[in-house]
Amino acid sequence: MSTRIGIVTGGGDCPGLNAVIRAVAKAAAKRGWETIGIEGGYEGLLHPQRARELDYHDLDGLLTRGGTILGTASRGRFSAKVGHGETRDLPTELLDETQRGFEDLGLAGLVSIGGDGSMTIAQQLFEHGMPIVGVPKTIDNDLTGTVMTFGFDSAVACAVDAVDRLQTTAKSHNRVMVLEVMGRYAGWIAMFAGVAGGADVILIPEIPFSYESVCEKIAQREAAGKHFTIIVVAEGARLVGGGFVGDEATNGEARLGGVGEQVGHEVARHTGKETRVMVLGHLQRGGSPTMMDRVLCTLFGTYAIELIAEQRFGRMVAWTYEGIRSVPLVEAIETLKTVPLESSLISSSRALGICLGD
Ligand code: F6P
Repeated sequence: MSTRIGIVTGGGDCPGLNAVIRAVAKAAAKRGWETIGIEGGYEGLLHPQRARELDYHDLDGLLTRGGTILGTASRGRFSAKVGHGETRDLPTELLDETQRGFEDLGLAGLVSIGGDGSMTIAQQLFEHGMPIVGVPKTIDNDLTGTVMTFGFDSAVACAVDAVDRLQTTAKSHNRVMVLEVMGRYAGWIAMFAGVAGGADVILIPEIPFSYESVCEKIAQREAAGKHFTIIVVAEGARLVGGGFVGDEATNGEARLGGVGEQVGHEVARHTGKETRVMVLGHLQRGGSPTMMDRVLCTLFGTYAIELIAEQRFGRMVAWTYEGIRSVPLVEAIETLKTVPLESSLISSSRALGICLGD
């Protein structure tokens, strides 16, 4: 009987999931292995199982297709993240049941594609005895150990397109335009989109902001004859001394969102400028992966198969400065990778005169 491996996509979707599935299944087939796709996230391993073999025809067109053909789940019994930096141990019965499902399918290894939540689950399943390797996915780019997660570049491309479009309409109407982007507790999407789109103000979770600072920047622009301003605000941005804006956590992590509306309201009140707010939301997670993500997904997927072949489990594929390598899962989930305050991204923004809210 040939070697069978499983593949599962967990957490929020993003462009590139299907490209990784394709790379994994193709690289596995090249070794004569079968790939079983687990449907609906880790839940698909539980009885009654939802799993199917991925044959060659399933892989057609996957390199460019958004979403995940396997489906995914970001809340429910497998929620291992419950808040900012807080994790939960999955019950032993659930780990046992998952392992039984894995064994019933006759799998020799499992490729888990996901963000920090899915990698936290993967680590717990690995410690429980399951042979797992991880592939780092998230538009938030907040996983430690990898230069970049896949999905991030595609989300940024979407956000930059939005900033470009807001630039022209803001200028035509002499307005302040506020764009709220995703990223959870990390400001990567906001920083990249803001810098690439030429934003005047970028507000990120790593640097608490004040309205004085933001309005001062708008006043300076007005004085210089620039009667429009673009503000990119990360959903996790917060006022000095303030908390995150969003819903209370229910059955998993809290949903962030709404800070853009608050910023728009306060800026209009303080400056008297006509202000409009746009929340980019899940547009950032849809559509086809960028060229960069297609390449990254392909490298990640094929390397995951190498890890399984070498029986190097409990590791996450990573893009390091030495190339595509792997890091222990436990290292990847230890801390969230946020934007370092001493990074060139921050110093270069300040050098340009971009207001970071402080
Ligand atoms: O982690 C990816 C992400 O898109 C975050 O940027 C965002 O806060 C969250 O997921 C949204 O989750 P949901 O799809 O459950 O609304």
